[in-house]
Order: sequence, then structure tokens, then C-alpha cells
Amino acid sequence: MRSHGIESGRLLPEILAPPPGPRARAMAGRLEASEAPGINTLVAGATAMLWAEALGSNVVDVDGNRYIDLTAGFGVAAVGHRHPAVVTAVREQEEQLVHGLGDVYAHPPRLELAERLCALAPLADPRVYFAVSGADAVEIALKTGRLHSGRPGVLAFDPAYHGTTLGALAATSRRAFREPFTRPLEESVHRLPYGAPAEQVQEILQRQPDIGTCLVEPVIGREATRWPPPGWLEALAEVCRRREVVLAVDEIFTGFGRCGTWFVCREAGVEPDLVCCGKALGGGLPIAAVLGRKEVLDAWRSDGEARHTATFVAHPLACAAALATLDVIDSEGLIDRSRTVGDRFGQALEALRNRPGVTDIRGQGLLWAIELDSPSAAQALSRNLLHRGLITLAGGASGTVLQIAPPLVITAEQLDYAAAALREVLGA
Ligand SMILES: Cc1ncc(COP(=O)(O)O)c(C=O)c1O
Repeated sequence: MRSHGIESGRLLPEILAPPPGPRARAMAGRLEASEAPGINTLVAGATAMLWAEALGSNVVDVDGNRYIDLTAGFGVAAVGHRHPAVVTAVREQEEQLVHGLGDVYAHPPRLELAERLCALAPLADPRVYFAVSGADAVEIALKTGRLHSGRPGVLAFDPAYHGTTLGALAATSRRAFREPFTRPLEESVHRLPYGAPAEQVQEILQRQPDIGTCLVEPVIGREATRWPPPGWLEALAEVCRRREVVLAVDEIFTGFGRCGTWFVCREAGVEPDLVCCGKALGGGLPIAAVLGRKEVLDAWRSDGEARHTATFVAHPLACAAALATLDVIDSEGLIDRSRTVGDRFGQALEALRNRPGVTDIRGQGLLWAIELDSPSAAQALSRNLLHRGLITLAGGASGTVLQIAPPLVITAEQLDYAAAALREVLGA
């Protein structure tokens, strides 16, 4: 699979067989016959293409079509796909230790990564709680909030996306694991519109004294690609602080440079109690973490076994990949790059603002949204772009958002190509 000439990862698209090509169609049929429905093969009701290879900002599908990935693989490939430093770190680690013993015995890359994350954490006296996935990190944050505050209730916002896990714990028998998490979370979640005025937040915290945790995305990612009103996060943090509600900020999508900063909450002048991170951290390998104030994470102290854990937690290969990823973000200046290249891209998108069907353009760093007037328009735009070799995601809670979140290493030429294709498709 090295015949596609993406050795640089900095190339423009080349479409040989309009997607989905013949191999993709054949494989999609096999997937349909072997995988559960709903998790693969179809995108917006149409057969999807299959990824065969990726490097930097390029993806090649099974039919040999070359694309620019404007999704960074759900925000994971901030340093680009298969960054050589990440691949080398994984290979070197693979010679030492591939799998460890989770919460029982640690290993050196895990220690090193914990120290690195503490040094980066946007809060005082930090500690790290490792997780396997973003949703796992959110579970840890919610459980921490409940343990620390002694209150089971959660304040969340609409729209928001925090994961899709359900109820393994409820089915686990040992009381030490389940207690004090037995009250079903669904019944304990109170929801406000994202950006609701501080008075409304204050009012719900007063009316629902069981709320011990507030979980918030500093920028709504998947569900809307939307920014809060200016000063809102600060006001929210202040209300939470006054009512001793644990503030958990979900930076799984925004952390590590997506919006031109290491963490959006720090830029917003907010010091949360907990920060969930994942996605970009592993440079393509699955790892996530909660960074939290020691005093808050101390709620987990126990003499017995870890009460929240997973077989693959702090996986050695993922820790090695994460260390290399953080090095790359630093050495390639990707935080600044996200801002400067993103600003330039934003200017190029201005031409689309008054096009028929386009209702809004917004963004920061390398996270942008083009809002269309209907879900079908968003889907059609995404499909049209795919045929021009651009991979995008359309949807969100309203279904009307075309999200652009490329690798932070995307070249100016690749972004210019994307802006030109958008102008062409939208008739600007
Ligand atoms: C803000 C946010 N939180 C949590 C998650 C869930 O992460 P994961 O899919 O790794 O479980 C996501 C995934 O898109 C996310 O964007």
C-alpha cells in the first residue's frame, strides 16, 4: 500500500475512480454482511469509501483515490496521520513493552507522560487520571465530581457531545465498584441551553442542590462547532466556584491546538477543577486522560483496588505515541501554526458568507464551520467536496453544519485548494 505516492502527506487530491469506487463498493458489501448495522459502510445513506492509507494530511482510499483529510480523523491527527516521530516512538516502545498491567503495575512511558501532562495542565497542583477513550475520560470526570462533591447531580448543556457509553458498571456486581455511583446518571443530569446566562445557571444550581458537577465543552465540537458568548465560561466557572460545584471542562476535541491554544479554557481565563482530554493526545493511538486538581482527584484515594479502571489503560504504545505527539506539537510550533494558518483560511472563507444557502461561517484556529440552511444541503456539500478529494463531516445536532478540522500540519497550498473547492461548489 505504498504505491500511492503520499510519502510527504502534503499533496493535493487525485480522484481516479469517483468514490465510492469499485473496491470500496465491494468491501462495503462485505462489511454489511459481517458488521452490525449503524456503525459502518454507509454515510448519509450512501455507500462509504474505505481508507487504505494515510500520511500527514493525505488519505488514500482502497481504490487509490487521494484526499485531503479535513477532519483530522475526528480531530485525532493534529500532528498529521502517521507522523514519523510518532511511528518511530511506537516502534521503539514495541521493542520494550507492548502491554502492561493497567492500574496494578505502571511503566516508564506512563510515568513520563503523567509528568508531561501535569506540566501542561491548565490548573494548579495537577494530577492525571488516565483513560482509554474520550468517553472513558468523561466517565472519570463525572465519577470524580460525584465522589468529591458528594452530590450525584450533573449540569450539562444542549447541544453537547461527551460520548456514548452506557452501563457496564451497573451490571458489575462488586459493591465497592458500584457505590457510590449507583444512582442512575440519566436521572441526575439537568440541562441548560449552551450559553445560558449566568443567572439561569445560578438559578438551576439553587433549585437543584443535588448538582455537584458541571460538565461543559469550552467550544461545542461535533454537535455544533459553536463558540460560547464572550465571557460565558468565566461566568460559569465563577457560579460553579461559589456553589462548590466541580467544573469539568471537556477539551477532548479542542485540546492540544485545535483552536490555536493548548487548552481553550486557559485562553478563556478559566481554571477548571477537571479537564478531559483525548483524541489528538495519542497522535493516532487510543489514549485519553483527565487532568485535575490534586485536591479533587484525591477523592479516589482508597486502600483497595482502583475503582475506575480498564484493561488497556495507559497502554505503553499509546503513552509512547503521546509523548512523541507532544514533542511534535512543540518542535513544529503547531499551536501558533493552528492560529496563523487558520486565520488565513478564515479570510479565504469570507467569500462564502453571502452565498445562497450559507447561513453562517465561524471558526478559530483550525476548527471551522460552514452552516447551511438544511441538513440535505450540508450532506450534498460534503459529498460534492468528497468528489473533489476533500474529506469533511457534515451534521451536528441540527444536521446543518459542515465542519472543517484538518491536521494542524496541513499546508497552505492544501488549505487554498480546500477554500477554492468550497468557492467553486458554493458558486462564490
Ligand atoms: C467533546 C468530546 N467529548 C467526548 C468525546 C468522546 O470521545 P471518544 O469518541 O474517544 O469516546 C468526543 C468525541 O467526539 C468529543 O468530541
